Amino acid sequence: MSISKAASSNSAQTIIERLQIEHLLSSKPSPNQLIDGSDVIKGLTHIPKSLPARYFYDDRGSELFEQICELPEYYLTRTETTILQKCAIEIAGITNVCEIVELGSGSSTKTRILLDAYNQLGYPLRYIPIDVSAGILETSARQLLADYDSLQVHALASTYELALRQLIPTQLPSRMICFIGSSLGNLNPQECDVFFSQIISALQEGEYFLLGIDLQKQKHLLEAAYNDSQGVTAAFNLNMLEHLNWRFQGNFDTAQFEHWAFYNETQHQIEMHLQSLRSQTIQLRALDLTVHFERGETILTEISRKFDLNTMQQELSSRGLKPLQVWTDPNNWFGLLLCQLQPLTSVTVAA
Ligand code: TRP
Repeated sequence: MSISKAASSNSAQTIIERLQIEHLLSSKPSPNQLIDGSDVIKGLTHIPKSLPARYFYDDRGSELFEQICELPEYYLTRTETTILQKCAIEIAGITNVCEIVELGSGSSTKTRILLDAYNQLGYPLRYIPIDVSAGILETSARQLLADYDSLQVHALASTYELALRQLIPTQLPSRMICFIGSSLGNLNPQECDVFFSQIISALQEGEYFLLGIDLQKQKHLLEAAYNDSQGVTAAFNLNMLEHLNWRFQGNFDTAQFEHWAFYNETQHQIEMHLQSLRSQTIQLRALDLTVHFERGETILTEISRKFDLNTMQQELSSRGLKPLQVWTDPNNWFGLLLCQLQPLTSVTVAA
């Protein structure tokens, strides 16, 4: 574990006293130790080819993602922010004093709305951001600590799975795990299944799960959101190849691949690919891997599922994560669900 140095502040406790950053993936945060690349080998040797979405998020990828969130076509972040602004006080009122755990916290921009609400009600603020990108985790933690005098941050540089298994008991009466930004949509149904079980194991009965999901809507609105006119999403997608080059000594030429995203209406999901512009062979030396691409062949890099709010509520209820309150926007584009883990007995009764 490493604890960061920081400039002192005027508040009772300095930033350094209120900040802990823990690297769960390795005692030495050397990037090559974090990820062994077996998932890359698997994805690139399988037909059709795919790559795990986790490789989007190196520091550059996280920066590009922040830019995506501000794009005019990318309605998700704006819509979820509006919903949060409307209901944050209500959420804090329902959960009462509560530690906020956030999976995939990124810049923590939306989380500020929640922190403001808990602050306004005079509740103590304890925040556990979890992100694989240690860089963005530290930068945003420091900014938050500078802005909230009494905030305690215990940041975890980690995957969700690992962090959920290793959460230390909360120092506050309750805990709320937040998974916003429709990141749930980036998991396939099987992964989603496993994810919900991990959430349930990480919570005590009566604790909370806050979930933000993108809802099904017209194809043209969805496709515009993942094919922005400034090409930021394309740069984000292509950056995955740069990330692999750096991490595994690869020689992908990003000029020889193109971003391609479309809405699959049957599966209710955006599919994001990288398409090879010519027949080519690449190497990832650190993985001892040579991969051939036909012209036009694609690598699936991401799915983004779009949900039906009623179906999701039923699914959560059947797992014992009872939706206490559901909010949406006037267009019904995005949904926010505050759920509470029920005691086992009432799940059996409800089933
Ligand atoms: N979960 C968000 C979404 O599906 C964010 C996201 C993940 C994303 N991967 C992306 C956005 C790729 C754009 C491109 O929209």
